[in-house]
Amino acid sequence: MATRVIQVDLLDTDPTVVEFAARTLRSGGLVAFPTETVYGLGANGLDPAAVARIYEAKGRPARNPIILHVASIAEAIPLVANWPPTAQRLAERFWPGPLTIVLERSAKVPDIVTAGGPTVAIRCPNHPIALALIREAGVPLAAPSANRSGELSPTCAEHVLRGLDGRIDLILDGGPTAAGIESTVIDLTHTSPRLLRPGPLPPDEIERIIGPLIRKPDVMDVMKESALPSPGMLDRHYAPRTPLECFMDYPHMIERSIEMCREGKRIAMILFGDQAESTDSIVRVVMPNDPEAYAARLYAVLHELDQKGLDQILAQLPPETDEWLAVRDRLKRASYGPP
Ligand code: TXA
Ligand code: MG
Repeated sequence: MATRVIQVDLLDTDPTVVEFAARTLRSGGLVAFPTETVYGLGANGLDPAAVARIYEAKGRPARNPIILHVASIAEAIPLVANWPPTAQRLAERFWPGPLTIVLERSAKVPDIVTAGGPTVAIRCPNHPIALALIREAGVPLAAPSANRSGELSPTCAEHVLRGLDGRIDLILDGGPTAAGIESTVIDLTHTSPRLLRPGPLPPDEIERIIGPLIRKPDVMDVMKESALPSPGMLDRHYAPRTPLECFMDYPHMIERSIEMCREGKRIAMILFGDQAESTDSIVRVVMPNDPEAYAARLYAVLHELDQKGLDQILAQLPPETDEWLAVRDRLKRASYGPP
């Protein structure tokens, strides 16, 4: 299959392109599109055969459920068994935006979307192309990140093409995405709401609307304690091909870099703040001091470093504060285990 790429102007989206993409979706095809977080790989979320093609194109394990994307609260309601007041408050405050809400599914949602489970994840993206596409398609769009399973999420059309060329019908190229990391996921199916995935929307903003959140334990801490995590937590996610190691402690990271250079290894260091001292054998990337700006660049930097064929990436972890929660989560996941 040839994958077509069509440029779309964000401010003046061509309706004939949106119509073409929507027709592709309605006839069971796969269309990658930009959202404010990362690019999604969309299919008609009510068509099990179309959703099956997403799993196939990504090489995604069948047990990993997919988010349904809607253009309004009204479109979310038929997809759930009940719409609690907490969901209403969150959606009113944060949709369209980088917040995914997990609720009990309705019978309308195909099994393949929820991986057979009793819940469905729903989000309304804050992006003109995504919203126009959902409206024109007239169905909720099942859309995971538009990358091969286990690899980095794409923040521009070129990243999507690198991973999925020949496996999908169409890519709508709307330029680089703004937030750069995947949406915050909140589970509302228990007595207390749970944070399943930190993201661009900080937990304290959510807590201001619906009260305290139960934080999912840090994936790395769970593994250290060798407790039995849920299957999804053991997946290698959001990871570059180049092995990545995280460091809390800057001097320790420098020691390690010296050691690796002595062994003749080619490495990159992702630094935080302004502590870059240059040498010839090390690629140094200095990341912004602000969590939002850091997140917006993170995957683009990892994609770029992957292209250099280095032996190792060393990354300095930002402080253990809530505003850095999502960035630390993605760095730790990127450092977990071999592919
Ligand atoms: O920002 C985003 O959320 C992007 C854009 C495209 O919207 N999408 C995205 O999808 O990151 P994906 O599939 O790459 O990540 C969705 C995460 C997965 O970890 C999946 O297991 C989880 O959400 N998820 C989906 N449905 C779920 C459900 N019913 N219950 C719990 N977790 C769910
Ligand atoms: Mg993903």
